[in-house]
Amino acid sequence: MAVKKKTTKKKSTPVRKASGGPKKMHGEVFYPSKEVVAQANLKNWDALAKSAAKDLQGFWAKEAKELEWFKPWKKTLDDSKKPFFKWFADGKVNIVHNCIDRHLKTSRRNKLAFIWESEDGKEHRTYSYYALNREVSRMASIIKSLGVKKGDRVTIYMGRIPEIVFAMLACAKVGAIHSVVFGGFSVDALQGRIEDSASKLVIICDGSYQNGKLIELKRIADEAIVRCPSVENVLVVRRTSHDVPFQQGRDHWYHEMLETPIAKERFPTEVMDAEDPLFILYTSGSTGKPKAILHTHGGYMVGTYSTLKYVFDIKDEDRWWCAADPGWITGHSYIVYGPLLNGATSFLYEGGPTFPNPGRWWQLIERYGITILYTAPTAIRGLMRFGEEWPNQFDLSSLRLLGTVGEPINPEAWKWYFTVIGKEKCPIMDTWWQTETGMFMITPTPVVPLKPGSGTRPFFGQEAEIVDEQGKPVKDNEEGYLVLKKPWPAMLRTIYKDPDRYVSQYWSKYPGRYMTGDSARRDEDGYFWIIGRVDDVIKVSGHRLGTAEVESALITHPAVAESAAIGLPHEIKGQAIFCFVLLKPNINGTPELAEELRQHVAKTMGAIARPEEVRFVDKLPKTRSGKIMRRVLKARAQGLPEGDLSTLEE
Ligand code: PRX
Repeated sequence: MAVKKKTTKKKSTPVRKASGGPKKMHGEVFYPSKEVVAQANLKNWDALAKSAAKDLQGFWAKEAKELEWFKPWKKTLDDSKKPFFKWFADGKVNIVHNCIDRHLKTSRRNKLAFIWESEDGKEHRTYSYYALNREVSRMASIIKSLGVKKGDRVTIYMGRIPEIVFAMLACAKVGAIHSVVFGGFSVDALQGRIEDSASKLVIICDGSYQNGKLIELKRIADEAIVRCPSVENVLVVRRTSHDVPFQQGRDHWYHEMLETPIAKERFPTEVMDAEDPLFILYTSGSTGKPKAILHTHGGYMVGTYSTLKYVFDIKDEDRWWCAADPGWITGHSYIVYGPLLNGATSFLYEGGPTFPNPGRWWQLIERYGITILYTAPTAIRGLMRFGEEWPNQFDLSSLRLLGTVGEPINPEAWKWYFTVIGKEKCPIMDTWWQTETGMFMITPTPVVPLKPGSGTRPFFGQEAEIVDEQGKPVKDNEEGYLVLKKPWPAMLRTIYKDPDRYVSQYWSKYPGRYMTGDSARRDEDGYFWIIGRVDDVIKVSGHRLGTAEVESALITHPAVAESAAIGLPHEIKGQAIFCFVLLKPNINGTPELAEELRQHVAKTMGAIARPEEVRFVDKLPKTRSGKIMRRVLKARAQGLPEGDLSTLEE
């Protein structure tokens, strides 16, 4: 039976009891079908939400007890030094113990943890939990032999192959802190992240495949690493077998080390404090340098475990596909850690959605019997434009749930996803969260009535609010700043090496509340609608980039005197980068130079940051104190009113 759909303009319609939603709802509402409610692990959203609201610590302690601890924690939440919150303090644990070791004691050891397919479709690999333990142990023993100790940072820069997952888990197993750099970033972005983390070891692959093209990751990494004195060793996984330069003493082939007695098929998992760092992940903020968001073993483990369990209703027979890249937080939490903590079977795919044709993803769903697909609105919009004839060639009947993340989903894309892909039987989990939150924060569960474009309500134990500049809650349906009121276990603990920035960035504007950096509104049903970022962060195809980083890349070109980058709406990408450039004297702004500057940004930062357009200008609008008024540039570029110009410099 299809999910019932009701549209109400002003009138309200009652919600079926089983959904646990509010009594009356407004707007276009998609109610969960009887079948969905019948199979859901959690049937009563309201009851759990109420009890978690009453006893936040009790809720999380119960969740944590579903996992194994080497030693129990003393205090579920320690907020004595807030905003430096601690969760499960004094507890001893290792996330890898719960992702892998724990399952080996049960029949789950024979269950598939990962199914992988190469971009060209010629290679297929599967790993049971038992085999995953072998692979991770081998990698862990090798990185330990390369001098990596508890607390050391290891940078990982690879394509979407199983070894990237092994590398992350191997670091966690030996107590090292991984710092994954998205394989689509280029030299400068990689160098900055290796340098800031002072990584001793970098794990890379020789190359990766993207849309049939070879990306020479080793060459890019070499260019970055020569400028990073902290790096002692580079472990190279062979993926493409093309010729790569090799530096004796520093570089080590992984496949060769696997043949030596160093590689152990069983290796001990380090005992960690719950609050010991698990990883850092760089993300863009409003200022030039990306911030290293730090997550820990204990709280992050509990948060990713529970959110995936409840929101995607994970069952033993599921085949889960999170189509993100392991290099972003979505991949960390919901390709690597969350699914393994739940003992799930995940599908990992090397390529993108439209290569060699726009039927590729749908073919994979049919081939592997995927039951849950979790992706980004940009991918859905990108696939939608090729029409339904592509998905209609394949049997998608295995799907039971769908998910979206990374940017607001426009109702048109939501409905296409719901109708054409989910055949009106798969609820869509629109999950709002961030690198910083580590886990879903505003999200439905399958039994909650859905409104296309809304992430519905905060996850159990959380409270969100929309406030004005002064921090006062605004009225229903008014736009304001989205803040979170309660601590949660997977919250970032700090910005690595920069605790002051952690406090000023997230906790200073509205003391006691976490500032998300997003604007949003809440409707009369208590449903949240994300509007977008309020800072200079842009989401290009769901990837988080800072305008300041693009400007820093432009300024390294000899022709550029000054520049300003902004994000403008884009039909497929959500947002695209537009740059305004002031050239040095006597340099002509030709179309060839504009193209050269676009390529320059792509080469230094990565192809995802390539500006859509570079425009030459004589002047940039600035305030009297010299700040570029991006708001004015945005309005001008779109032909919209420029608003209050009283602070504009003459
Ligand atoms: O603006 C919000 C948007 O993505 C930002 C966080 O980006 P990042 O740290 O890269 O993490 C993305 C994956 C978790 C948020 O501040 N965002 C994320 N999910 C949604 C969203 N906007 C609207 N709806 C979402 N579901």
